[in-house]
Order: sequence, then structure tokens, then C-alpha cells
Amino acid sequence: IPVQIYETADEAVKAVAREIADLVRTKAASSEKCVLGLATGVSPIKLYQELVRMHREEGLSFRNVVTFNLDEYLPMPKESEQSYHYFMHHHLFDHIDIDPKNIHIPDGTLQTEEEIEKFCEDYEKAIDAEGGIDLQVLGIGRTGHIGFNEPGSFITSTTRKVYLNDLTIKDAIKDFGSRNLVPTKAITMGVGTIMKARRVVLLAWGEKKAPIIKATVEGRVSDTVPATFLQMHSDVQFVIDESAAGELT
Ligand code: F6R
Repeated sequence: IPVQIYETADEAVKAVAREIADLVRTKAASSEKCVLGLATGVSPIKLYQELVRMHREEGLSFRNVVTFNLDEYLPMPKESEQSYHYFMHHHLFDHIDIDPKNIHIPDGTLQTEEEIEKFCEDYEKAIDAEGGIDLQVLGIGRTGHIGFNEPGSFITSTTRKVYLNDLTIKDAIKDFGSRNLVPTKAITMGVGTIMKARRVVLLAWGEKKAPIIKATVEGRVSDTVPATFLQMHSDVQFVIDESAAGELT
């Protein structure tokens, strides 16, 4: 996996934001839509800040952009401050000129298994109908999850309901206040959904991510670390800071 190491996350996100802006503008110039796969969590916050800045100060328009978010907790009302719906609007969508009907985020309000299954099938179809994802932004969990594809996820997995790993729940306590308030389930794009994206850019900052970055980049491809499946992607790039790179040999 090609790894680009920057001294700081601030520098790193500038490069990624520039790549996204170039893609959006190139597509716009030929009247094409640009389909972005987006992540939540701490890792992409600065990237979204930089994209908002480019919109405000450099006229970067998102009118031709279609987005598909990786995941959402289940159950989760959209208006909850812990929801990924709230996160995306707060950090990005409320501050740019994207058409609201081009925004797609898994629905954490669905009740029955039937509704959830139908939603997941339709999510895959919606991605295909837009021509597939041009660029997928990822973070990585300390379990090696991408999206919420925890250890044991198949490389062929598609959008579906999943159960969160214990370590993932533990890492989410900071957002929910206590363990029993953290949802135990989520709807996530699959590893297979992510692998179909034409380009994948994974962001990781800080020394807490150093062991899983090492395992992902240097380890054997295995579903015990689902992010290792990215070794088999033909256009993937890890953009990390020096602390996250700290254990690479
Ligand atoms: C979020 C997602 C997760 C996070 C991962 C890292 O949409 O899919 O895989 O990217 O848990 O989270 P942070 O960035 O908070 O360390």
C-alpha cells in the first residue's frame, strides 16, 4: 500500500483536499457528476474544514457532487448529535452548496430486518446508478475496521447491518458518555462496496493508530484485520502523520 507520511495532519489534509477539489472541478468541466464516498469520525474533520474553506475562499462548488457515507449507528435518530447524519451536516454539508438530494447516508431509524435489508440493497443500487464511487475517503478503527466492517467481514461483503466490536464500542464511549449508551449495531457499506471505489484514500493520525497501520500495511491479508483487504485495491493511498507511521519498518 502506498503510504504518504506528513509531519502534521494539517499538511496532509491540504493535499487530500486539493486532490478532491481537482477531481470535482475536472468532472464539472465535462458536466459530469463526482461521486464521493465519505467517512465520519475524528480523522476526516480537518479535511472537511479545508473543503469548506476552499468553498468559501476559492469558489469550489459541490453542485455536481454526489456523496455516499460509509455508515450510521443503529438505532440512531437523524437529529441526535451523535448521529453521523448530524456529524456530516455539522462539519460539511451545512457549509457547502451540495444539493441535499445528492446526499446519501445509511438510515439508522429503520426498525424491521426487512426494512433494513431492503434499504441496504437499495443503497448498493443507488451507488451503481450514479456510476460507482470515484473517490472513497476512509478512516481506520483500532480493530482494523474500515466503515464498520469489523474483523470477520468478508472481502465480498456489501451494505448490511453489523454488530460493533467491543474495542469499537469502547472507543465510542467518548462520544456517548457511557458504555451502555453506545449503540451496538450499525449499517455499513461492505468491504466489497469499498473495494469497488475507483480510488481509496485512508486517513490516520496519532500514535494510537500506529499499531493498526503497521498491521494493515505490513501484515498478511486476512479478515482478522479487514483493512488489509485494501492491499488488493489497485488505486489506494494511505495519508498519515508521523505518529501514525511510528511503527512502520
Ligand atoms: C466512520 C467509520 C469508521 C472510522 C474509524 C476511525 O464513518 O467508518 O471506520 O473511520 O472508526 O474513527 P476515528 O477517525 O474517529 O479515529
